[in-house]
Amino acid sequence: MKEILLKEAGEFAEFNRGGRIINPFTVGSFYGKFIETEGCRRIDLTRLDYLALGSTPEIKRILHGAVESTDLGCPASQKVLKTSLNVDLEKSLANLHGMNQTLVFTSGYAANDNFMEALAARTKIPYLSIFRLCKNTSNLPTIFFVDGESHFSLQHGIRRSRSVFGSKAFTFPSGNYEKLELLIKKAPKESVRVIISDTLSSATGVVFNTECLCEIAAKYDCLLYLDEAHAIGALGKNGAGIASGNSSYNKYKNHVMIMGTLTKALCSMGGYVSLSDENLADFFQFCCPQYIFSAPIPPWMAKSLSGIVALVSGDWGDKRRETLAHLSAYLRKGLIDADFDTMNSSSHIVPVFVGDDEKATRMYRFLQGKGFEVSCFRYPAVAESSALIRISVCSDLEFCELDELVHNLKIARNI
Ligand SMILES: Cc1ncc(COP(=O)(O)O)c(C=O)c1O
Repeated sequence: MKEILLKEAGEFAEFNRGGRIINPFTVGSFYGKFIETEGCRRIDLTRLDYLALGSTPEIKRILHGAVESTDLGCPASQKVLKTSLNVDLEKSLANLHGMNQTLVFTSGYAANDNFMEALAARTKIPYLSIFRLCKNTSNLPTIFFVDGESHFSLQHGIRRSRSVFGSKAFTFPSGNYEKLELLIKKAPKESVRVIISDTLSSATGVVFNTECLCEIAAKYDCLLYLDEAHAIGALGKNGAGIASGNSSYNKYKNHVMIMGTLTKALCSMGGYVSLSDENLADFFQFCCPQYIFSAPIPPWMAKSLSGIVALVSGDWGDKRRETLAHLSAYLRKGLIDADFDTMNSSSHIVPVFVGDDEKATRMYRFLQGKGFEVSCFRYPAVAESSALIRISVCSDLEFCELDELVHNLKIARNI
C-alpha cells in the first residue's frame, strides 16, 4: 500500500497551513473580551479563553494565592524530581478524564509533539522492552492513521517519527471513518497502530464522532490519541471535553490517550496527556524527550492550575458552560436564519463559510470597522476557494453583541 504522506506539499506549505490564521500580524493589548490595536478597541472574537476566565476575579484570586503560598522557581526535569504540587495537578487532570495517570508538559504543542515521537522511538530504545507496549514489538513499525485536519503539532511529531524512526503515516479525510477502517484493514497487522484525531475542529467547530473512533480502535486493537485542545473546560460533563461523554470511552479506555491544553479554556500555560493504562503512562515518562530533558511548569503554576481545574469542573464551570452553549446556539441560529453556511458546527467555534478569499478579506475589514475582530482563514490555511470567517464564542459575550455581529455580517456579504 502506498503511504499517504501528510499533506506533503512541502515543508513551508505545511507551515502556512499550520499557521492557519492569517489575519495581518498586529501588536495590541487585550482587556477581557476586548482587543485594542492602534487605539481602536474591538470585541475579540478570535479568543480561546472560552469560559472568559481571564477577567474573572475568582481566577485572579487563585493565582495570587498560589504565588503567595509557594516559592517561585522550577525544579529540573520531572524524571529527577516531581513536586507534590505538580503531582496534585496530574491527579486532578487524570480524575477529570476518569483516567489513572497524566503527564503534564509546558505546552499542548510539546505534549503532542513528544507523544508522536515517543510512539515511534519505541523501536530504537532497547531498555523500553520492559514496558508492555514494547514487549515483542521492538522490531515492528509504528503506523499512524491521522485525521487530515489534525493539528500541526501532531503532524510535526509524526514527521520526525517517520524520518528518524521509520514509522509510517496514512491520512484519512477528516471525519471519514469508513476510509479510516479501509486504511487500517490494508495496513500490515504486524505493527503498533495508532489513530490520531482532534475531537473538535479548531477551524469549523465540528464535533468528531469519538464513539465511533473508540469502537474502531478497539475493533482493530489500535491505540487512540484524541486532541481535546478546544473542548477541555468548554464542553462535556465537568468540562472534561467530548470523548468521555460517549459510552465506548469507559469500555475501551485502555486504548485511549486524551490530550488537553491548559492554554485555552483553562486560561493558563501547559498541556497534558491523560491515560488509563499505568504501564503505558510509565512508558511515556521514559521516552518523551521533554519529560526527561526539560523543566516542568513551575510548582506555583501547577498549584494555581489545580485550583482552576477544581473551579471549572464544578458548578461554577457548569454555569459558564451553559451560558456558552446558549450564546453559541443563539449565534448559529441567527446566522442560519440569515442564510449563512455555518459548516455543521455544533460548538462554541462558529464559522461562516465565504469561499472567495478576497470577499472574506473584505468582510473581515468591514467587521473590523464595526468593532469586531474575527479570524479570517484563507488559502493556504484552508483549501482553495474555501475561505471562512471563524467566530470564537466566549461566555462573557452579550446576546445583543451577537445580534449586532449578524447584522453587520449581512451587510458585509454584499459589499
Ligand atoms: C488542536 C490543537 N492542538 C494543540 C494545540 C497546541 O496547544 P498549545 O497552544 O497549548 O501549545 C493547539 C493550539 O492552538 C490546537 O489548536
